[in-house]
Amino acid sequence: MSDAVLGIDLGTSYIRCAIWDRGTVRMLTFGDGETKLPAYITINPDDNKECIIGAAGKDLSTSHPESCLFQLIHFVGCAQEQADEAVRGYHLPFQFEAVSTSNDVARFSFNFSSQHLSLRSTLCRLLRESREQAEHLIRRPIQSCVLAAPLHVAHSREGIAAVEEAAMRAGFTTVSTVPAFEAILAGCLSQSLTPGVIKAVAHLVVVDFGAESTRVRVFKMDSEGRASGITQVRLGPGGLSLDLALMQYCVSTFQKQASSSTMELDAGAIHRLRIECEEAKIKLSTAQSFQFHLPMLSHGRDFVHRLSMAVFTEICGPFVQTIDKRIYESILAADLRPDGDNFRILLVGGGARMPLLRQLIRWSNGHTLDNSLAGFADTACAYGAACLGVGEVLREKPKKERSCVLC
Ligand SMILES: Nc1ncnc2c1ncn2[C@@H]1O[C@H](COP(=O)(O)OP(=O)(O)OP(=O)(O)O)[C@@H](O)[C@H]1O
Ligand SMILES: [Mg+2]
Repeated sequence: MSDAVLGIDLGTSYIRCAIWDRGTVRMLTFGDGETKLPAYITINPDDNKECIIGAAGKDLSTSHPESCLFQLIHFVGCAQEQADEAVRGYHLPFQFEAVSTSNDVARFSFNFSSQHLSLRSTLCRLLRESREQAEHLIRRPIQSCVLAAPLHVAHSREGIAAVEEAAMRAGFTTVSTVPAFEAILAGCLSQSLTPGVIKAVAHLVVVDFGAESTRVRVFKMDSEGRASGITQVRLGPGGLSLDLALMQYCVSTFQKQASSSTMELDAGAIHRLRIECEEAKIKLSTAQSFQFHLPMLSHGRDFVHRLSMAVFTEICGPFVQTIDKRIYESILAADLRPDGDNFRILLVGGGARMPLLRQLIRWSNGHTLDNSLAGFADTACAYGAACLGVGEVLREKPKKERSCVLC
């Protein structure tokens, strides 16, 4: 009997895992019943030692923003200036302290709540939680994992070393890293795209709407269903940009309500608003409005406001249009006819659940948006990583056969 393998989608906002066990793959659910583990760590304020991770850590961070860490994967392989820029740009409540290199491996640490935590030790905690939950489910040890990492990690020696060492410390003994795109394709090919579809289309346009960014890339399919990337990855705004735009809207609405254009929010208030804005964005995928209610947001004032779908659509408009533009450019760069029918657009990642985005892409690209991923869009990456771990799917062609080098 083969050993079980854990496929891990190492996302900026969420970690998702799929377990390959005895010939089948299934998604791992965490304590709250969700298939996503928020990539959050909050130090327990009671003893200032215990790390509360995942959804509980995210909840606790709203009252203790000075003690939480999140968006960790963003910092893997980051130079100090980029890290400082991210902290400023996303209004993060913690500091990225240092990048130092010893034994050819970069060490990253954060300074918050008068504690110093290394990036690897925090990633290790999240990965250990994933392994333990998966082992609890299948009732036997899991030694192997495949990490699906964003491009900036998967294509950097330091990045791979950082995440793989974290996984080894988390108790895995066999660890490999693949670029997220490779895992996504594997997930789509093994789960949702039927051999008929694969034979019928010559190209797949993969759009991964993540938190950090939206990545678009065109793959050419061969007659055996193997894919090779033929365009560079094009980047558009991701979910975090939308959250920031919503936060800006909320701040100006709050200032209008208070009749004070100079009313500032402290780091704690900004963090509560960040979490509420992500919630609003997710809820607005299925509801027509969202009720903000943040007691004592600033200067003793509550923020109460109903955000309508019409206003949300207006806020999202420029972002969605940029993503659509990136898709269009990628189609042209692959020498495809935008109105042609020999390609499918696969929309994956958490943002693929936004009807707004699906509608626009369908509208501008006609019938080519592939719906086979509905309900599976955000799990394709972890699912594919697990399949790759046991060689259950055809991987990308070896480099020398590729028509274009992976970037
Ligand atoms: N149902 C939903 N409706 C709208 N947006 C959603 C939904 N679920 C998740 N999102 C948002 O989609 C974005 C991408 O989520 P995803 O889980 O793919 O991110 P990630 O994998 O952590 O990020 P990255 O791939 O950039 O590292 C996030 O900003 C998330 O808030
Ligand atoms: Mg992702």
